[in-house]
Amino acid sequence: MSIVIKTAEEIEIMRKSCLLASSVLDMIEEYIVPGVSTEKLNQLCHDYIIEHNAIPSCLDYKGFPKSICTSVNQCVCHGIPDESVLKTGDIINVDVTVFLNEFHGDTSRTYTVGKTSRAARDLISAAKESMWEGIRRVKAGAHFGDIGYAVQSFVEAKGYSVVREYGGHGIGRKFHEDPHVVHYGREGTGPRLEKGMVFTIEPMINAGAADIILLDDGWTVETRDQKLSAQFEHTVAVTEDGVDILTLPQ
Ligand code: MF3
Ligand code: CO
Ligand code: CO
Repeated sequence: MSIVIKTAEEIEIMRKSCLLASSVLDMIEEYIVPGVSTEKLNQLCHDYIIEHNAIPSCLDYKGFPKSICTSVNQCVCHGIPDESVLKTGDIINVDVTVFLNEFHGDTSRTYTVGKTSRAARDLISAAKESMWEGIRRVKAGAHFGDIGYAVQSFVEAKGYSVVREYGGHGIGRKFHEDPHVVHYGREGTGPRLEKGMVFTIEPMINAGAADIILLDDGWTVETRDQKLSAQFEHTVAVTEDGVDILTLPQ
Protein backbone atom coordinates (compact mmCIF):
# COMPACT_ATOMS: atom_id res chain seq x y z
CA MET A 1 0.00 0.00 0.00
CA SER A 2 1.33 3.44 -0.84
CA ILE A 3 -0.53 6.60 -0.01
CA VAL A 4 0.24 9.50 -2.35
CA ILE A 5 0.94 12.77 -0.51
CA LYS A 6 -0.34 15.85 -2.34
CA THR A 7 1.44 19.22 -2.39
CA ALA A 8 -0.39 22.40 -1.40
CA GLU A 9 -0.55 23.30 -5.11
CA GLU A 10 -2.08 19.93 -6.01
CA ILE A 11 -4.65 20.31 -3.25
CA GLU A 12 -5.73 23.66 -4.70
CA ILE A 13 -6.18 22.02 -8.10
CA MET A 14 -8.14 19.20 -6.46
CA ARG A 15 -10.36 21.72 -4.69
CA LYS A 16 -11.59 22.85 -8.12
CA SER A 17 -12.52 19.27 -9.10
CA CYS A 18 -14.15 18.76 -5.71
CA LEU A 19 -16.16 21.98 -5.83
CA LEU A 20 -17.36 21.17 -9.33
CA ALA A 21 -18.60 17.77 -8.07
CA SER A 22 -20.33 19.53 -5.18
CA SER A 23 -21.98 22.02 -7.55
CA VAL A 24 -23.38 19.10 -9.55
CA LEU A 25 -25.15 17.93 -6.38
CA ASP A 26 -26.50 21.46 -5.81
CA MET A 27 -27.70 21.65 -9.42
CA ILE A 28 -29.48 18.28 -9.42
CA GLU A 29 -31.46 18.81 -6.19
CA GLU A 30 -34.43 20.60 -7.79
CA TYR A 31 -34.86 17.78 -10.32
CA ILE A 32 -35.25 15.11 -7.64
CA VAL A 33 -39.05 14.90 -7.68
CA PRO A 34 -41.65 12.14 -8.08
CA GLY A 35 -41.82 10.97 -11.70
CA VAL A 36 -38.26 11.78 -12.76
CA SER A 37 -36.19 8.88 -14.09
CA THR A 38 -32.73 8.23 -12.78
CA GLU A 39 -31.57 8.30 -16.41
CA LYS A 40 -32.82 11.89 -16.66
CA LEU A 41 -30.78 12.77 -13.55
CA ASN A 42 -27.78 11.07 -15.17
CA GLN A 43 -28.18 13.10 -18.38
CA LEU A 44 -28.51 16.39 -16.50
CA CYS A 45 -25.37 15.69 -14.45
CA HIS A 46 -23.44 14.40 -17.46
CA ASP A 47 -24.21 17.51 -19.53
CA TYR A 48 -23.39 19.85 -16.63
CA ILE A 49 -20.02 18.17 -16.04
CA ILE A 50 -19.09 18.32 -19.74
CA GLU A 51 -20.19 21.97 -19.97
CA HIS A 52 -17.76 22.70 -17.15
CA ASN A 53 -14.89 21.17 -19.12
CA ALA A 54 -14.65 18.09 -16.93
CA ILE A 55 -15.23 14.39 -17.46
CA PRO A 56 -17.58 12.21 -15.38
CA SER A 57 -15.15 9.80 -13.71
CA CYS A 58 -17.73 7.03 -13.36
CA LEU A 59 -18.47 6.71 -17.09
CA ASP A 60 -16.65 3.60 -18.36
CA TYR A 61 -14.83 3.23 -15.02
CA LYS A 62 -14.22 -0.53 -14.94
CA GLY A 63 -17.15 -0.77 -17.35
CA PHE A 64 -19.67 1.28 -15.33
CA PRO A 65 -22.17 2.39 -18.02
CA LYS A 66 -23.33 5.79 -16.71
CA SER A 67 -21.92 9.12 -15.51
CA ILE A 68 -23.22 9.08 -11.92
CA CYS A 69 -24.47 6.50 -9.42
CA THR A 70 -28.12 6.71 -8.35
CA SER A 71 -28.87 4.47 -5.36
CA VAL A 72 -32.56 4.33 -4.42
CA ASN A 73 -34.02 3.04 -1.10
CA GLN A 74 -32.52 -0.40 -0.36
CA CYS A 75 -29.72 0.26 -2.87
CA VAL A 76 -26.52 0.75 -0.86
CA CYS A 77 -24.29 2.09 -3.66
CA HIS A 78 -23.39 1.93 -7.36
CA GLY A 79 -27.01 2.04 -8.55
CA ILE A 80 -27.09 2.38 -12.36
CA PRO A 81 -29.32 5.14 -13.75
CA ASP A 82 -32.12 3.75 -15.92
CA GLU A 83 -35.68 4.50 -17.06
CA SER A 84 -37.21 3.70 -13.66
CA VAL A 85 -38.85 6.72 -12.04
CA LEU A 86 -38.70 8.06 -8.51
CA LYS A 87 -41.86 8.03 -6.43
CA THR A 88 -43.03 9.96 -3.39
CA GLY A 89 -41.38 8.62 -0.25
CA ASP A 90 -38.24 7.31 -1.95
CA ILE A 91 -34.74 8.23 -0.86
CA ILE A 92 -31.92 8.49 -3.39
CA ASN A 93 -28.18 8.89 -3.09
CA VAL A 94 -26.55 10.67 -6.01
CA ASP A 95 -22.80 10.06 -6.17
CA VAL A 96 -20.79 12.33 -8.45
CA THR A 97 -17.10 12.11 -9.30
CA VAL A 98 -15.51 14.44 -11.84
CA PHE A 99 -12.09 14.56 -13.48
CA LEU A 100 -10.85 18.12 -14.03
CA ASN A 101 -7.26 19.32 -14.62
CA GLU A 102 -5.95 15.77 -14.13
CA PHE A 103 -7.50 15.29 -10.67
CA HIS A 104 -10.69 13.64 -9.44
CA GLY A 105 -13.18 15.03 -6.90
CA ASP A 106 -15.82 12.76 -5.33
CA THR A 107 -18.92 13.58 -3.27
CA SER A 108 -22.42 12.23 -2.66
CA ARG A 109 -25.61 13.13 -0.82
CA THR A 110 -28.86 11.34 -0.05
CA TYR A 111 -32.03 13.23 -0.97
CA THR A 112 -35.69 12.68 -0.16
CA VAL A 113 -38.35 12.45 -2.89
CA GLY A 114 -41.46 14.36 -1.88
CA LYS A 115 -42.78 13.56 1.57
CA THR A 116 -40.85 10.71 3.20
CA SER A 117 -41.35 8.71 6.38
CA ARG A 118 -39.85 9.77 9.69
CA ALA A 119 -37.84 6.52 9.62
CA ALA A 120 -36.27 7.44 6.28
CA ARG A 121 -35.45 10.98 7.39
CA ASP A 122 -33.90 9.73 10.63
CA LEU A 123 -31.70 7.29 8.72
CA ILE A 124 -30.54 10.03 6.35
CA SER A 125 -29.68 12.34 9.28
CA ALA A 126 -27.72 9.58 10.98
CA ALA A 127 -25.80 8.81 7.78
CA LYS A 128 -24.89 12.47 7.35
CA GLU A 129 -23.95 12.93 10.99
CA SER A 130 -21.86 9.75 10.96
CA MET A 131 -19.82 11.15 8.08
CA TRP A 132 -19.22 14.30 10.15
CA GLU A 133 -18.20 12.20 13.16
CA GLY A 134 -15.53 10.64 10.94
CA ILE A 135 -14.44 13.96 9.45
CA ARG A 136 -14.02 15.45 12.93
CA ARG A 137 -11.32 12.88 13.70
CA VAL A 138 -9.13 13.89 10.75
CA LYS A 139 -5.80 15.50 11.59
CA ALA A 140 -2.13 14.71 11.14
CA GLY A 141 -1.07 12.00 13.59
CA ALA A 142 -4.51 10.45 14.04
CA HIS A 143 -5.09 6.88 12.84
CA PHE A 144 -7.47 5.72 10.13
CA GLY A 145 -9.00 3.47 12.79
CA ASP A 146 -10.06 6.58 14.71
CA ILE A 147 -12.29 7.57 11.79
CA GLY A 148 -13.83 4.11 11.52
CA TYR A 149 -14.41 3.93 15.25
CA ALA A 150 -16.11 7.34 15.33
CA VAL A 151 -18.48 6.41 12.51
CA GLN A 152 -19.30 2.93 13.77
CA SER A 153 -19.89 3.86 17.40
CA PHE A 154 -22.20 6.72 16.40
CA VAL A 155 -24.20 4.57 13.97
CA GLU A 156 -24.56 1.50 16.17
CA ALA A 157 -25.65 3.59 19.18
CA LYS A 158 -28.64 4.59 17.06
CA GLY A 159 -29.46 0.95 16.22
CA TYR A 160 -28.30 1.19 12.60
CA SER A 161 -25.46 -0.72 10.93
CA VAL A 162 -22.35 0.12 8.87
CA VAL A 163 -21.63 -1.59 5.55
CA ARG A 164 -18.26 -3.35 5.71
CA GLU A 165 -17.47 -4.29 2.11
CA TYR A 166 -17.28 -0.77 0.66
CA GLY A 167 -15.59 2.31 2.03
CA GLY A 168 -13.75 5.51 1.33
CA HIS A 169 -10.51 5.73 -0.59
CA GLY A 170 -7.53 7.85 -1.38
CA ILE A 171 -8.17 10.05 -4.41
CA GLY A 172 -6.09 12.24 -6.68
CA ARG A 173 -4.76 11.62 -10.17
CA LYS A 174 -6.50 8.26 -9.84
CA PHE A 175 -10.17 7.80 -8.85
CA HIS A 176 -9.44 5.13 -6.25
CA GLU A 177 -6.04 5.31 -4.57
CA ASP A 178 -4.71 3.82 -1.34
CA PRO A 179 -5.77 3.56 1.38
CA HIS A 180 -9.13 1.84 1.63
CA VAL A 181 -10.91 3.83 4.35
CA VAL A 182 -13.20 1.62 6.42
CA HIS A 183 -16.06 3.02 8.46
CA TYR A 184 -15.68 0.65 11.40
CA GLY A 185 -12.82 -0.34 13.64
CA ARG A 186 -10.80 0.51 16.70
CA GLU A 187 -9.11 3.71 17.77
CA GLY A 188 -5.34 3.79 17.39
CA THR A 189 -5.28 1.15 14.63
CA GLY A 190 -4.41 1.46 10.95
CA PRO A 191 -1.97 3.83 9.27
CA ARG A 192 -1.40 7.32 10.62
CA LEU A 193 -2.83 10.32 8.81
CA GLU A 194 -0.24 12.68 7.37
CA LYS A 195 -0.48 16.22 6.10
CA GLY A 196 -1.20 16.14 2.35
CA MET A 197 -3.15 12.88 2.31
CA VAL A 198 -6.43 13.27 0.42
CA PHE A 199 -9.21 10.69 0.75
CA THR A 200 -12.96 10.28 0.95
CA ILE A 201 -15.15 9.51 3.94
CA GLU A 202 -18.40 7.95 2.71
CA PRO A 203 -20.18 5.70 5.21
CA MET A 204 -23.07 3.56 3.94
CA ILE A 205 -25.56 3.17 6.77
CA ASN A 206 -28.29 0.52 6.83
CA ALA A 207 -31.56 0.74 8.72
CA GLY A 208 -31.44 -3.02 9.33
CA ALA A 209 -28.56 -5.47 9.12
CA ALA A 210 -25.18 -4.64 7.56
CA ASP A 211 -25.36 -7.54 5.07
CA ILE A 212 -25.40 -6.69 1.39
CA ILE A 213 -26.00 -8.46 -1.93
CA LEU A 214 -24.56 -7.71 -5.36
CA LEU A 215 -27.10 -7.86 -8.18
CA ASP A 216 -26.52 -9.73 -11.45
CA ASP A 217 -25.66 -6.50 -13.29
CA GLY A 218 -22.34 -6.69 -11.43
CA TRP A 219 -22.70 -3.19 -9.95
CA THR A 220 -25.87 -2.60 -7.95
CA VAL A 221 -25.37 -3.28 -4.24
CA GLU A 222 -28.50 -3.72 -2.07
CA THR A 223 -29.19 -4.51 1.55
CA ARG A 224 -29.81 -8.22 1.99
CA ASP A 225 -32.89 -7.52 4.13
CA GLN A 226 -34.16 -4.95 1.59
CA LYS A 227 -34.34 -2.25 4.25
CA LEU A 228 -33.22 1.32 3.52
CA SER A 229 -29.61 2.45 3.19
CA ALA A 230 -28.26 6.02 3.12
CA GLN A 231 -24.87 7.60 2.42
CA PHE A 232 -23.01 10.90 2.32
CA GLU A 233 -19.49 11.50 1.01
CA HIS A 234 -16.91 14.26 1.19
CA THR A 235 -13.35 14.40 -0.15
CA VAL A 236 -10.99 15.70 2.55
CA ALA A 237 -7.34 16.73 2.84
CA VAL A 238 -5.31 16.28 6.02
CA THR A 239 -3.77 19.49 7.36
CA GLU A 240 -1.30 20.03 10.20
CA ASP A 241 -3.99 20.63 12.78
CA GLY A 242 -7.14 19.26 11.20
CA VAL A 243 -9.04 18.83 8.01
CA ASP A 244 -9.72 20.73 4.81
CA ILE A 245 -13.02 19.55 3.31
CA LEU A 246 -12.39 19.99 -0.40
CA THR A 247 -15.96 19.21 -1.50
CA LEU A 248 -17.44 21.79 0.89
CA PRO A 249 -17.89 25.30 -0.55
CA GLN A 250 -16.36 27.89 1.80
N1 MF3 B 1 -18.18 7.43 -6.58
C1 MF3 B 1 -18.07 6.10 -6.01
C2 MF3 B 1 -17.18 6.24 -4.80
O1 MF3 B 1 -17.53 7.01 -3.95
C3 MF3 B 1 -17.53 5.09 -6.94
C4 MF3 B 1 -18.39 4.80 -8.08
S1 MF3 B 1 -17.58 3.69 -9.11
C5 MF3 B 1 -18.65 3.48 -10.35
O2 MF3 B 1 -16.13 5.70 -4.68
F1 MF3 B 1 -18.01 2.82 -11.23
F2 MF3 B 1 -19.71 2.86 -9.89
F3 MF3 B 1 -19.02 4.62 -10.83
CO1 CO C 1 -18.44 8.79 -4.67
CO1 CO D 1 -15.73 7.76 -3.21
